[in-house]
Amino acid sequence: MKYPALLFAFCFLLAKYSTAQNDNSSFYHEQYRPQIHFSPKQHWTNDPNGMVYYKGTYHLFFQYYPNTSEWGPMHWGHAISNDLVHWKELPIALYPDSLGYIFSGSAVVDSTNTSGFGKNGKIPLIAIFTHHDPKGEQEGKDDFQNQSIAYSLDDGMTWKKYSGNPVLKNPGIKDFRDPKVMWFAPQKKWVMTLATKDRVTFYSSPDFKHWKKESDFGSDIGAHGGVWECPDLFSLNDHGKKVWVLIGNIGSGTPNKGSGTQYFIGNFDGNKFIAVDNKTRWIDYGPDDYAGITWSNTGDRKIFLGWMANWLYANKVPTKIWRNAMTIPRELKIKHTSTGILVASEPVKELNSIIQKKNILENISVEKNTDLTEKIKVLSVPCKLDFSISDPTDFFIILSNDAGEELKIGYDKTNNYFFIDRTKSGKIDFQEDFSGKHVAPRFTDKKEMNLSLIMDVSSVELFADDGLSVMTETFFPSKKYSKIRVETPGKISIKKVGYSVLKSIW
Ligand code: FRU
Repeated sequence: MKYPALLFAFCFLLAKYSTAQNDNSSFYHEQYRPQIHFSPKQHWTNDPNGMVYYKGTYHLFFQYYPNTSEWGPMHWGHAISNDLVHWKELPIALYPDSLGYIFSGSAVVDSTNTSGFGKNGKIPLIAIFTHHDPKGEQEGKDDFQNQSIAYSLDDGMTWKKYSGNPVLKNPGIKDFRDPKVMWFAPQKKWVMTLATKDRVTFYSSPDFKHWKKESDFGSDIGAHGGVWECPDLFSLNDHGKKVWVLIGNIGSGTPNKGSGTQYFIGNFDGNKFIAVDNKTRWIDYGPDDYAGITWSNTGDRKIFLGWMANWLYANKVPTKIWRNAMTIPRELKIKHTSTGILVASEPVKELNSIIQKKNILENISVEKNTDLTEKIKVLSVPCKLDFSISDPTDFFIILSNDAGEELKIGYDKTNNYFFIDRTKSGKIDFQEDFSGKHVAPRFTDKKEMNLSLIMDVSSVELFADDGLSVMTETFFPSKKYSKIRVETPGKISIKKVGYSVLKSIW
């Protein structure tokens, strides 16, 4: 009897172990794990990279350190999706090599095979990234970041580095990285936008292997609290006219502290970017949307994705198995407001596919304090909350749990700003800058206000006035928030609250 029992136990353990290798069931449901956002199964991630859409698949590469949950020698992790909502993580796409770590960059479809990498009619996808040589950096050199390429002949699934790397050598600028490439059709050339310390530099190439400097932009405009990183240049359709948008992420020194995404609006003629004014605009005013850029090859639709973290504390947030996640992908649109032209962001419509249950409450008048939890039974996270409010005065939407932790989201009429206050949101002591109240200006004088909150287990994304004011914040409560109330010092009238329970993507 003894041996069959042992054999049974052995087989049981073996079966359990081998399924655990392929199975996600032991991952993706840990405390704080985002349920509707991409995060790697294990270990560290920062910037989204190489985002390209091809043959029905959205590729997302990401800065990845597969050995620990802290930043380390960078690889490109890889995930794919066919709806921008559900993600499947694939094997690592690019490993560090003798030229260095694989820092951020982009990817495109080379449909006319300008690179010559295509074989037997196969269209190549090309990735361009920064090779960061840690040895050169340690030795105090200033040319340790160079641009290199890799290509794929199996629709983005596997990648081969080009033997002639690097394709753009460093001219002696320490911060020389994060190439974003697009096809500039009027002049039949590739245009690279590269972060070069306190500005971006544009280069062009007929074939991805030879690059020529065109011009630079930004040293005397915009925010300069940190070096510029992860730029992007693209056009958006504005009533049949092309408007060019130039993104310049900066690692520190933004209005809400730390990392953030500024942008400029203007015109690009293949050689120079000229801004319409010298205003600094921000894609997202919250502290946790950084290094965001757009997918290539998505036609007229421009889809943006950011890293949902901030360099001030990204290495210290209280998770272990994995660390950090991406935002919800957002569609960017040009909007004209009473305060000028802006890029608005809205969560991609594909997110609606995970709505499980929708509840609409109408005509709620709030005097001092109204508990919405009673009306929706229990607040279940992840969820989406859509408020429309007439002629608002000050108000707070307060999400809380039984442990007395709460997240406050609101509007301050006197100062005309939205805010998110996470000072009592849960665990905040892992880094001194994490706790705080952050603000975003309101850009419209319309009486009607709409406000959508995308709530995940450890993040909220606020889209106000159809995406004119956006804020992303992470938080780490000891228990999920399960209650919601609205407070106002006076009176407000909420026309509608849409409450949609969202289904986990894992
Ligand atoms: C931005 C960034 C990039 C760099 C990468 C390294 O977050 O600093 O400039 O390529 O991260 O991981």
